[in-house]
Amino acid sequence: MPVAPLAPSGQGDADVDCSVTACVALTFDDGPSTATTGRLLDTLSQLGVHATFFTIGEHVAQAPQLVAREVREGHVVGDHTWDHADLTKLSQAGVDQEIARASQAVASASGTTPVLVRPPYGAWNDTVRNAVSGQGGAIILWNIDSEDWKSRNTRAVVERVLSTARPGSIVLMHDIYPTTVDAVPQIVQGLRQRGLTPVTVPTLLGESARVGWIFYSQHDLIHPGSTTQTTR
Ligand code: NI
Repeated sequence: MPVAPLAPSGQGDADVDCSVTACVALTFDDGPSTATTGRLLDTLSQLGVHATFFTIGEHVAQAPQLVAREVREGHVVGDHTWDHADLTKLSQAGVDQEIARASQAVASASGTTPVLVRPPYGAWNDTVRNAVSGQGGAIILWNIDSEDWKSRNTRAVVERVLSTARPGSIVLMHDIYPTTVDAVPQIVQGLRQRGLTPVTVPTLLGESARVGWIFYSQHDLIHPGSTTQTTR
């Protein structure tokens, strides 16, 4: 059973200790987008916030400079497959290729190899889990869904995140919608008013995170060999 710690990722907020500070991880999927991601990075920089980007490999190949900027500015880049495949419909070889090809795109864009994988649609099975473990990674899901893809409405996204976020939450958003980028300043301000510090996923999980684990939040996870969600 894999028990190795996740490799450190050089995130810009590693000085925050989420075992004593109430933290929330903001995550942005499906980018990078040349229309919206640069503006989000400007916003995060102004707010002093670091986030986690689960990028799609073929988008990375189209805009590698944005992924290089994400890493350079202290954000964390994870793997969201090459072309947003439902990994539960693929063979072991197909799953391996989806993850590895996206990982290589991030590595060639930024010099950093992802260790966090978010399967599209949150869809995973033992094949997916074995592939992620075999590449030294962990599966990162979420426990707060902003539903930004559905509402495409800034106020709705802000209200949904702020009404549901709690210490340890992993928040699912998408950096491909301008309405989501517009929501980020109010979300960050609201989280801080509630005593919650926005951080990257590695900072949220801390040094106890292990290869092969599946996380829904800082405290809710599934261990290797199990299909049952437990609390730590
Ligand atoms: Ni996605």
